[in-house]
Amino acid sequence: MSSAISKSSAAAKRVLSGMRPTGKLHLGNYMGALKNWVDLQNAVHADGTSKYECYFFIADLHALTTDYADPSGVLGNIHQVALDFLSAGLNPEQSVVFVQSQVPGHPHEELFTLFSMFTPLGWLERVPTYKDQQEQLKEKDLNTYGFLGYPLLQAADILLYQPDYVPVGADQVAHVELTREVARRFNSLYNATCLPEPDVLLTPSPKLPGTDGRKMSKSYGNTILLSDPEKEIRAKLKTMVTDPARIRRTDVGNPDICPVFDLHKVFSDVATQQTVREGCTTAGIGCIDCKGKVADAVCATLAPIQQRRSELEANPHLVQEILSAGAARASARAAVTMAEVRQVMGVAGK
Ligand code: TRP
Ligand code: SF4
Repeated sequence: MSSAISKSSAAAKRVLSGMRPTGKLHLGNYMGALKNWVDLQNAVHADGTSKYECYFFIADLHALTTDYADPSGVLGNIHQVALDFLSAGLNPEQSVVFVQSQVPGHPHEELFTLFSMFTPLGWLERVPTYKDQQEQLKEKDLNTYGFLGYPLLQAADILLYQPDYVPVGADQVAHVELTREVARRFNSLYNATCLPEPDVLLTPSPKLPGTDGRKMSKSYGNTILLSDPEKEIRAKLKTMVTDPARIRRTDVGNPDICPVFDLHKVFSDVATQQTVREGCTTAGIGCIDCKGKVADAVCATLAPIQQRRSELEANPHLVQEILSAGAARASARAAVTMAEVRQVMGVAGK
């Protein structure tokens, strides 16, 4: 185990979260999750020791529950998401960064199997994402055993590391709730204490519209990627929808209903926001200028991330090494939990 983790004070709380490798990450993924992870990783107590001992992983098995028919994307995306994680500031000296399926000994898969022995079907059928996703992803056949088990696999991901907190967005709260139920059932069935119930650490997620004004999402094709070149970011933002009432340059606009202004609120400093608000409501600036300013702010946020990305891209072996070292550390931690779980559940193998 690295010195960074053993040095953190006894009061360090353990944190675990994961993300599916569905594609290169966009600003919505960054502001709604990844940036929060980096902040947790870097949070320190007054004495300078880390507040949190962090585990962050790429949930490739979860991605397979929906993309099993064409897994090529999942494989290709693992490396891209790892590049996004590391370039956004996850630091393998501070956090354990790994790929779910690469953990030696495959404890995620084993714990999932063991949990499946005692988890009632009804618990899984009642998780709201089960029916919702089946309806939203109609083109995929999600009437499968693996997809029904999605939240149980997530419970295994989580409880394996015995975390105090699971930082997730509101859409994942039901999965952590199921995780707590599974932990309770395990502890009561086997008269055990080894799977404490973790708490959700709700990630504040700002309103972040994509270029068409709807929530930024890969499925809408309206994203700005962390890895988009500056020229492309500027071009994409130029096409962004604005207050529809502002047709001519001389029309005044209303920033409070304009998606471009939502991006200003996230990325621009307060002075710029004030200038833009003033200019928009008096027709003092045009939308093209306003979008140029938001592009400046977005590009300034992404510049250091893209700088790190190009360094990492030049060294693909380094990324592989980081992931395999992370997997080894995850394996060592998971083994502690699995030893107890196997013992109380009467599993003979070692
Ligand atoms: N289901 C999560 C999502 O779609 C990803 C995930 C898998 C996860 N395992 C996890 C998140 C464990 C937190 C903890 O975003
Ligand atoms: Fe939106 Fe900016 Fe145009 Fe106002 S000036 S309508 S805030 S893009």
